[in-house]
Amino acid sequence: MTKYLITSALPYINGIKHLGNLVGSMLPADVYARYLRQQGHEVLFICATDEHGTPAELAALDAGLPVAEFCRQQHEAQAGTYAGFKLSFDHFGRSSSPQNRELTQHFGHRLADNGYIEERVTKQVYSRADERFLPDRYVIGTCPHCGYAAARGDQCENCTRLLDPTQLINPRSALGGSEDIEFRDSRHLYLLQSRLAPRLRDWITSRTDWPTLTTSIALKWLNEGLEDRGITRDLDWGVPVDRDGFEGKVYYVWFDAPIEYIGATKEHSDARGLGDDWRSWWYDASDVRYVQFMAKDNVPFHTITFPATIMGSGEPWKVADYIKGFNWLNYYGGKFSTSRRHGVFMDSALEILPADYWRYFLIANAPESDDATFTWEHFAAQVNKDLADNLGNFVNRVLTFSRKRFGEQVPAGAEAGPPEQQLTDQLVTLLGEYQSCLDGLQFRKAAQTLRTIWSVANSYLELKSPWLEIREDPAAAQLTLRTAMNLIQLFALISEPIIPDAARTLRGIFDLGDADDLGDAGAAGSPWPALDDVRSLSWVAAGTPFTVPPVLFRKLTDEDIEAWRERFGAETAA
Ligand code: 2FM
Ligand code: ZN
Repeated sequence: MTKYLITSALPYINGIKHLGNLVGSMLPADVYARYLRQQGHEVLFICATDEHGTPAELAALDAGLPVAEFCRQQHEAQAGTYAGFKLSFDHFGRSSSPQNRELTQHFGHRLADNGYIEERVTKQVYSRADERFLPDRYVIGTCPHCGYAAARGDQCENCTRLLDPTQLINPRSALGGSEDIEFRDSRHLYLLQSRLAPRLRDWITSRTDWPTLTTSIALKWLNEGLEDRGITRDLDWGVPVDRDGFEGKVYYVWFDAPIEYIGATKEHSDARGLGDDWRSWWYDASDVRYVQFMAKDNVPFHTITFPATIMGSGEPWKVADYIKGFNWLNYYGGKFSTSRRHGVFMDSALEILPADYWRYFLIANAPESDDATFTWEHFAAQVNKDLADNLGNFVNRVLTFSRKRFGEQVPAGAEAGPPEQQLTDQLVTLLGEYQSCLDGLQFRKAAQTLRTIWSVANSYLELKSPWLEIREDPAAAQLTLRTAMNLIQLFALISEPIIPDAARTLRGIFDLGDADDLGDAGAAGSPWPALDDVRSLSWVAAGTPFTVPPVLFRKLTDEDIEAWRERFGAETAA
């Protein structure tokens, strides 16, 4: 048994997340956590809302709420959708927690003590009308390079050149449009990442088993030369900088957010009265394997900035053993986008279909090697073929036929013969492949292999055709049905990481007399099957009572597709 620490990138607090966010970090992390728990490992799966920064402040302003109250409400709302998607976090924390504040300040001090922090005075934009400093991207003006009139202070959207707000011609506030702004000197802390570059490079290059997506992004940053990074801001909302002369300043949201992985672990321990247990996951924790999940835009912060914080602290905090990065999931000609409300958001998704439909499709199409695109047609076709036909129909056919001909107990029948031998040979190979995919965090391939296992079961049923066998040899038909019922039990066990609700229904079919609590989120789930058990296919013995569950997955229709295209907008951008 190994201790696995799993973290998923922390979703921003400003609104319900979309399916792109889900598939780019939280969902694959959940599949992995569930699989490892079933394997009997000790797993701690951590996530939290990322609550600081200007976007949170502005969203609160828009909502007419104090920012703390806005975050509280949004945290609850996000937690609700994650529970709805059956994400089995051991703890879903908040980066605004006292634990994170304490840890962030601790890291700030350690970095300073070790000479990795420098104070620098920089010009910051101050809006007299708004009575506040403005982050670079909330200053707009004319681009000095291309003349674009609405360039942002950090970057010109038109010519993509990186900018400094002082370069803008006719700068004005993006908040109220006021031109009554000035550039004021402000003292800030800089993290001297450049000094840590050699250590970061050694670390990255030693991780030869990481996905190319992750290492290539990290190396690109290192090769371009690491710049020292301002880690404080002139804002009210955030972790206060507890240093003389820094009153009224907070740490930059990207500094405190990853520290919340540790903070949330401490929140978890504190909430459960576990004392210092949190440290055993993070501090001097060589017995822990730490796996991080995130979309590609987060990779630089997790391969450079956060490890720089950890390394610079000079303390033995855990760094990631493996970083799984994802490409984008697109929706009709563009990225899913929270600010533009483009795509399908998690709350609306659950309004139209239960979690498993989404979980399966998203994992089967996870943007691992490349960006992927969501379309309603593809979604419906795959749900219908794989979930409704391949899995659901198999279960229904086997159970209803057996009940009709042999009653509500698993039939006994003849001894297994060559077709069963051939079936189990195939299953042993496929289960081995499925495990390798999950061990290797290859989610798309894992779903593909699971689907092949369902297909192999269907081929066996077609080959044996118990509805024909029964005419000549009822014992042969019984053997086929008993074997098929054991396949259903196999599906129940191995489908759980991806489609936990269906797995739970499948596990409820046979009355095995165990006190299985049916694996709610966070519970250990059912034990992963050993290959030997697959060889004998004997979980469900003759005589076991069973019930026929309601239809597992409904077929999605052309009318559904039409209605969803209409509701969610499905026009490819010109
Ligand atoms: O990109 C995002 O959604 C960020 N909120 C991710 C933060 S991950 C971590 F560092 F906290
Ligand atoms: Zn420009």
